[in-house]
Amino acid sequence: MTIIVETKDLTRSYGNTVALSRLSLQIPQGAVYGFIGPNGAGKTTTMRILTTLLLPSSGEAWVAGHSVVGDRKAVRRAVGFMPDFFGVYDSMKTWEYLDFFAASYEIPVARRSKLIHDLLALVDLGHKRDADVMGLSRGMKQRLSLARTMIHDPALLILDEPASGLDPRARVELRELLKELRSMGKTIMISSHILTELAEMCTHIGIIERGSLLASGDVATIMRSLQSHRVFVVHLLSDLAQAADMVRGAPHVLAVRLLPAAAPPQIEIDVDGDDHAVGELLTRLIQGGAVVTHFAGQVSNLEDIFMRITEDSAYGGTS
Ligand SMILES: Nc1ncnc2c1ncn2[C@@H]1O[C@H](COP(=O)(O)OP(=O)(O)OP(=O)(O)O)[C@@H](O)[C@H]1O
Ligand SMILES: [Mg+2]
Repeated sequence: MTIIVETKDLTRSYGNTVALSRLSLQIPQGAVYGFIGPNGAGKTTTMRILTTLLLPSSGEAWVAGHSVVGDRKAVRRAVGFMPDFFGVYDSMKTWEYLDFFAASYEIPVARRSKLIHDLLALVDLGHKRDADVMGLSRGMKQRLSLARTMIHDPALLILDEPASGLDPRARVELRELLKELRSMGKTIMISSHILTELAEMCTHIGIIERGSLLASGDVATIMRSLQSHRVFVVHLLSDLAQAADMVRGAPHVLAVRLLPAAAPPQIEIDVDGDDHAVGELLTRLIQGGAVVTHFAGQVSNLEDIFMRITEDSAYGGTS
């Protein structure tokens, strides 16, 4: 596994405010890394350091193997940054805007026209090529901004809250676009405070609060490590109470609930064991004569996890 972003004890203070405190994280190449945290958590600060717009107070960070302190030029070649606001550009057409940034990346004039055409097609703004930038809608500006981050074909895209202020349809379109970028081989780091917004598209998540990283890793591992127990839902055609008796008291079973009014009728089993313990429960049910039509772990969503771990940290817990 190639690591494309690594930070080690990254710390940044603004006067007396410690915005980032010894942040250490890794992002593997090809990942969509959701960087999640409430307002003021330190997301933008981290992203600005990774894009060389801000220096750390202490600690280190590398992008594609290049130090953000010692080799800023190489870092800038490897990364495209979409900030959380769109600057003001008086009377500039959409294509001129991209041409301006292409020039600043020293892309030869002869290549620019096709590049701009391709990027506008990718973000579905081909029909706005000659429109005034400031007259674009917010969603269009976000897409144009995304096209800009890709002008030098960077391996890593760092997007600071790209979905904020977009309507539901524009969010879906953004998600599709990010999927496409991933299939083009890009690694994407994306921040948000709305977890459900990221849930479907991230392969990895990092959760940050008050400058500290609370958890980081692939989505499944994080979910597993945070779940003190899992809930299994069993749909039954046979008697619920009988089935509940078969598993109640079995190893690793914490509780059994009957849900006769649910459609279809079901029981829920709280389990604190591994997959072997879970398999054992299903065997018990079948051998006991229960007619099982569905047996599956309940997936708790990112929102649940986020609330749980930020709540823990508020009470002084660590993870
Ligand atoms: N230029 C600055 N001067 C002083 N303090 C700053 C500056 N930029 C950020 N901070 C402080 O650093 C902390 C982290 O801010 P940061 O912008 O990184 O958070 P964030 O996670 O991006 O928040 P949001 O979700 O609101 O965008 C906050 O306490 C903020 O007040
Ligand atoms: Mg921010």
